[in-house]
Amino acid sequence: MTTSSKTATLSFDGKTIELPMFTPTAGPDVIDIRKLYGQAGVFTYDPGFTSTASCDSTITYIDGDEGILLHRGYPIDQLASKSHFLEVCYLLLYGELPSSAELEDFETRVTRHTMIHEQMHNFFRGFRRDAHPMATMVGVVGAMSAFYHDSLDVNDPWQREVASIRLIAKMPTIAAMAYKYSIGQPFVYPRNDLDYAANFLHMCFSVPAETYHVNPIVSRAMDRILTLHADHEQNASTSTVRLASSSGANPFACIAAGIACLWGPAHGGANQACLEMLREIGSVDRIPEFIERAKDKNDPFRLMGFGHRVYKNTDPRAKVLKQSADEVLELLGVHDNPLLQVAKELEHVALNDPYFIEKKLFPNVDFYSGIILEAMGFPTSMFTPIFALSRTVGWVSQWKEMIGDPQMKIGRPRQLYMGETTRDYVDIENR
Ligand code: CMC
Repeated sequence: MTTSSKTATLSFDGKTIELPMFTPTAGPDVIDIRKLYGQAGVFTYDPGFTSTASCDSTITYIDGDEGILLHRGYPIDQLASKSHFLEVCYLLLYGELPSSAELEDFETRVTRHTMIHEQMHNFFRGFRRDAHPMATMVGVVGAMSAFYHDSLDVNDPWQREVASIRLIAKMPTIAAMAYKYSIGQPFVYPRNDLDYAANFLHMCFSVPAETYHVNPIVSRAMDRILTLHADHEQNASTSTVRLASSSGANPFACIAAGIACLWGPAHGGANQACLEMLREIGSVDRIPEFIERAKDKNDPFRLMGFGHRVYKNTDPRAKVLKQSADEVLELLGVHDNPLLQVAKELEHVALNDPYFIEKKLFPNVDFYSGIILEAMGFPTSMFTPIFALSRTVGWVSQWKEMIGDPQMKIGRPRQLYMGETTRDYVDIENR
């Protein structure tokens, strides 16, 4: 990280402070305020980190105005059409596209770690059957730290590598088991002759009583969904993983924290919320009513799957998924799906409405993913777990980058205190 020749000047109370600046390889310049409190005795105020870079990173870049998403410099649309999920995992983790031999070795390492400790099956059985699969995943992933003691030492690069592979390899197994448990079917062991996406479908949809053949169209669409969700720079769940790990917590605990954060409807939970909203709208003639509700400041309703903190243009992942939704539904013979019709009309109406135009609210990745997942046969409760399993590689890559960063410090924000100042305790009888 090199300092730019530019500096920023801050003047207040008759003082003038010169602040160093960084020039990134892409994106806006960054003012370095690390020494501000020491030099000037003031904090900056930025709830929600709308203007704050919390770290430097070389993994993912987003240009929200142009609708660009790059992983290690490669555009997401190229990765979605030409690459596949495990190759993108390698790229995110190690920084470069793999050679054939490197990819084969990586795929073998991931495949060999897909089973979970047999005793963990009992752990699943402690949950109520009606538990949301995300609740089960938070618990089970956190519990991995109780089962894999040989990959908890974050200061050992080898243990970090083993933990990374375990998390990427086991997350589909855990998500599929959470699903099977919720519907009362037996757990299905992973099959190492299948690729990552096909194996996940097998673990979700096969039953011991009959042979399940993975449809290659469905498995390709699944792989594309995983690829499109793999990383998204310093979003809420990734920042949660980084903050949790800044204390030195073990990787399984940190990723469990990321899963918990992802669950919220403003983040990964939006895919479930979006499909439920489309169902509630039900038919195109009810769209105007819901558009009006979304615009009403006195109504908490928002159009789920619309808007983004960073994208003020079309989310490039939504572009790919929209096309994918058309293809998959056509191929699966459900192209007249009423939800898709509602989604398309809703998108059209919102994109031409002054409120959404003015606020630059475009469909995001969650707008179309739910429709594809539903067509594949997943219940809405599985949408966010699928997001979590795809995002695991992003969390792990960002976690590894952070642990290896010499600038790393425990995350400890300050505050703008607006409470009472010192006052004397009053005995209960005198209050
Ligand atoms: N429907 C109606 N109005 C909206 C919406 C929406 N979906 N999103 C933002 N707005 C309005 C909001 O009311 C505000 O208006 P005003 O300036 O008059 O107060 C303005 O647009 C800016 O919104 P904000 O909440 O200040 O923006 P933010 O950057 O804090 O929030 C967001 C971003 C994604 C949380 C928000 O757009 C939202 O709640 N969207 C719906 C949930 C959703 O689809 N989330 C998935 C995000 S993409 C996948 C992921 O990263 O997990």
